[in-house]
Order: sequence, then structure tokens, then C-alpha cells
Amino acid sequence: MLAAKEGTKERTETVCCDVLANKVMLRVSPNLFRPTLTTTILTDQLDAASVRHRTILDLGSGIGPIAIGLAMSGAEHVYATDVMPEACELAMANADLNGVGDRITFMHGHLFEPLGDLRFDVIVDDVSAVTEDVARLSRWFPRGVPSGGEDGTVNTIEMLLASRRHLKPNGFLLFPILSLSRQARILEVAREVYGERLIRVASRRIPFSADLKNNLAKLVDLRSQGLIEFWHARNRPYWVLEIYKAYADGAHRPPVDHSEAGHAHTSIYE
Ligand SMILES: C[S@@+](CC[C@H](N)C(=O)[O-])C[C@H]1O[C@@H](n2cnc3c(N)ncnc32)[C@H](O)[C@@H]1O
Repeated sequence: MLAAKEGTKERTETVCCDVLANKVMLRVSPNLFRPTLTTTILTDQLDAASVRHRTILDLGSGIGPIAIGLAMSGAEHVYATDVMPEACELAMANADLNGVGDRITFMHGHLFEPLGDLRFDVIVDDVSAVTEDVARLSRWFPRGVPSGGEDGTVNTIEMLLASRRHLKPNGFLLFPILSLSRQARILEVAREVYGERLIRVASRRIPFSADLKNNLAKLVDLRSQGLIEFWHARNRPYWVLEIYKAYADGAHRPPVDHSEAGHAHTSIYE
């Protein structure tokens, strides 16, 4: 998914990230979050028609993969926010690298705060959503990148509570829930805010990475405290990534969520 290759003059590392049909080239930094499978699975739930000519918000934009990919797919304008100023700076450079710097506005700040009263056709939320322990043990989050707090829910719950007033009447919100957080609490709030307008659009089993496997005892402890969930298939531990879509009040009635039946997971990534 992410192919690392050597950069040129500055010897910075550059990776390629798939977002919709685009190959997004990204300079990375050891101090900032690198795109993962979640980035790609989340954006796979969008299609070109829901992006083209739309005003989109990428919340928790990191070094920019989602904002850049959506601008490359024809979004009219993408706003992107991240709490880390260094991430916004690198994201801006990455947008220029991919030729879409003029159609993205990067803003540094907490969740929706830098955006005032702006409303969007589409909000893609990818703000940190795993527990503090998982963030560090997995090594997905370098030391200075904030996690989702002790139970992984703090950002996503605050985002859900504020999201409706940033959606245009026909808009929708796309966001992940990871079982590496107290997922039931997030889902409860999402249902309170969006009711019938919330549907699950994807569910994937993700096998533990080597770092997660090496910290199994600690993860068992977190699970016993109710902070995370994971399961085993053929003796291999896996966690689950679910993607949800939540529609604004004026949007078309969403289709029925068939994926609820039997808690079906559609595929296992090796
Ligand atoms: C899981 S990373 C995703 C980054 C990017 N979307 C990607 O796919 O690579 C989460 C990002 O959320 C940012 N973040 C954490 N807390 C935040 C907050 N309260 N407001 C805005 N951004 C936040 C982090 O700095 C990090 O860059």
C-alpha cells in the first residue's frame, strides 16, 4: 500500500499513498504520523462523484494524504486542519509536490476551531482515535503526535458533537471507529447525534502488526479494562476497523446498513 522510496537532494524519505484512484506522493517526517491502511480504507468509501466539485474538510490531516488525494480527484476546495503546526507545514509542501497546493487550505488548530462557521459538503474525519497506550506501543504515533486519550474516544466524541453544525444540508460525515479504542462509547454518541442517519459502510479485520504482537500481554490488560477490543482467528490476533457515514438532516435517506447482520467483516488484510 505504501511504497517507500528514497527522496532526492535533501535525502528526505518519500512514500506513495493510494487515495481513490490517485497515487499521492508524500514527504514524511520521523516526528509526524505516516499514513496507514486506515487512510486508504477510509477514503475507499468515497467515490469520485461525491468528491468532484464539492467543498470538503479533512479533519486531522497529518502530512496531507487525504486532502491531497481528494483535491486530485476534483474537489472544488479542500480545507484541512491538524493540531500540529509542523504537520500542516509539511502537508502544504506535499500539496505543492502533487500540484494541488492552490486548492487546499491547511489550518493549524484543534478540531473545527480554525474554521469558524464554515460548512462542508463532505467531512472526512481521521483525527487520532486510538488509546494512548496503543498509539505508542504500535509505533504508529511518534512521541509528539497526540493520541485519542486514555480510552481513544476523546477526539472522535468531541468531533461528533460539533460535526452537524459544519455540514451543509445535503452533506455527510465519514469517520472510522477502531476497536483499539472504547468503540462502544463512540458508537453510542454517534447514534445519539445522527440516529437513523448513521450507517456503517465498511468493516475490516486487520491482523496485528509485529509491534502489536510483541505487546500482546499489555493489550490483553487493556482489553480486560474495557479500553480496547480484539479477537483471534486461527490463533492470529486481529483488531477491527469500521467506517461510518453520517448524513446531515437534509440529505437523502441513507440506504439500510446490511453490514450489521452478523457483524460481518468483509475481508482480512494480510
Ligand atoms: C491518525 S493521524 C491521521 C493523519 C492523516 N489523516 C493520515 O491519514 O495520515 C491523526 C492526526 O490527527 C491529528 N490530531 C490529533 N488530535 C487533534 C485535534 N484535537 N485536532 C486536530 N488534529 C488532531 C494528529 O496530529 C494526527 O496528524
